[in-house]
Amino acid sequence: MKKIRIFAGLCMVMLLMTQWVSAQESNPSPVVSIIPEPVSLVQQAGSFTITPSTTLYLAGKDLERSSTYFNEYLEKYYGFHLHVKKVKSPAEVHSENAIILDYHHIGYPIEGAYTFHSDKNGVKINGDNAVGVFYGIQTLIQLLPAIPSQSLEIACVNIEDHPRFKYRGMMLDCGRHFFDTAFVKQFINFIAMHKMNRFHWHLTEDQGWRIQIKKYPRLTSIGAWRDSTLIGHYGSHQGYDHQRYGGFYTQDEIRAIVKYAQERYVTIIPEIEMPGHSTAAIAAYPELSCGSPKVPVGSTWGVYDTILCPRPYTFHFYENVLNEVMKLFPSHYIHIGGDEAPKIQWKNSPFCQDLMKKMGYTNEDQLQSYFISTIEKYLNKHGRDIIGWDEILEGGLAPNATVMSWRGEEGGIAAAKMHHHVIMTPGAYVYLDHSQAEPADSLTIGGYLPLEKVYNYNPVPKELTPEEGKYIEGVQANVWTEYMQWPTKVEYMIFPRMDALSEVAWTMESNKNYHYCPSKIGGKIG
Ligand code: ACM
Repeated sequence: MKKIRIFAGLCMVMLLMTQWVSAQESNPSPVVSIIPEPVSLVQQAGSFTITPSTTLYLAGKDLERSSTYFNEYLEKYYGFHLHVKKVKSPAEVHSENAIILDYHHIGYPIEGAYTFHSDKNGVKINGDNAVGVFYGIQTLIQLLPAIPSQSLEIACVNIEDHPRFKYRGMMLDCGRHFFDTAFVKQFINFIAMHKMNRFHWHLTEDQGWRIQIKKYPRLTSIGAWRDSTLIGHYGSHQGYDHQRYGGFYTQDEIRAIVKYAQERYVTIIPEIEMPGHSTAAIAAYPELSCGSPKVPVGSTWGVYDTILCPRPYTFHFYENVLNEVMKLFPSHYIHIGGDEAPKIQWKNSPFCQDLMKKMGYTNEDQLQSYFISTIEKYLNKHGRDIIGWDEILEGGLAPNATVMSWRGEEGGIAAAKMHHHVIMTPGAYVYLDHSQAEPADSLTIGGYLPLEKVYNYNPVPKELTPEEGKYIEGVQANVWTEYMQWPTKVEYMIFPRMDALSEVAWTMESNKNYHYCPSKIGGKIG
């Protein structure tokens, strides 16, 4: 009896499933899959179709960045764009076949919240401000079908969405390898498409200085070029290629890139490394070192002993560099590096030892702290704040510094406990130069960082109280390019891990699920 009941029950379930599947087949709703996963998404039956006769209405100020972005996207991938019309309020729009962009206060404390509603008559995106509308446009783009057509069917959905973290970043190292402006823009576009908002541009390195500084032309005429590059992996002893290699960004190119980023609500944080990772600068201006022998621009990887000397000449030089940097980059934050600065040259320098005595310092870490604090004071005086890698904690943290925690989470935890802002970038979770396959399927720096490990990273460590956790401003993945000579290799290394990172940065922890696959389980159909 019991068996018969179970059998009948199973038959009923199978019948219902067959009916559900055939209903889906006769009236299939477009599949919805948004990355990063929104706070709430409910799919309704039916769809709306965007065609060249659809009108894009702007019901608020400053929405042109969103309409231009969307129209350029449509033109590039589908071969048409929409007529744009400005209105004072959505109530003025009486026609169907409309996409309406609007904003009014949602009240979420982090910039970028939006709501999205699509039904058979059109789409309405409401942002908390113009940035939120831009993110609504990114969601709309992800709802478009992949196959080019002039009739683009999108699902009917109700979405409420906002970011988890304020700082959602990607770093690209243009020092080890130089990437042209077209790729830098592409990289920024990837950031925007993922509703991320910071591009940390690593512009100076031992192996190349990449930013034109008009007051010091040798930084690029000499510092942007190396005579040779190591072949193969560091330590594999395969020799050098003996090819001159380099490049730099002119100030005009940088202005164009900053504008491109602004059009996508991406802030560029330039990094000018000091006092370590400065071999290229010292090759161009040997006066910056502590009287060490002349050095060439670096041609191998790893950490160099060359270091800037904490002399008035050096500070004056770097203040002049930063004056030009501040003119080019409106970012509130300037990254001053601070990582991997061996102190051997300072130990051997009579000037440094004398300075330490005068200052009452007992170790060279305090001298590094003095270096960073001097630069910080200068930038603070000009209304900017510094970010530094977590080594800036050693010898005493500069008073207003934000810490990028990369050697693990410990630096970030310590800084948050001292009430300093923190960006989490721990190597074990978000260094996209590590291999995503095991064994590695191409030449990489080493380490193994699979997609799932990036996805499951939580940037707020358990060691922090809820109050201390508020100092974690966000998260960033780093793309060091020793073993990435070409844009294609960068793309190979960042995807799909950057998709995962965007959910770490944007999606509420309770909404994250590595195994969720909307197309498999029918999505969240309401
Ligand atoms: C770093 O990876 N050296 C910050």
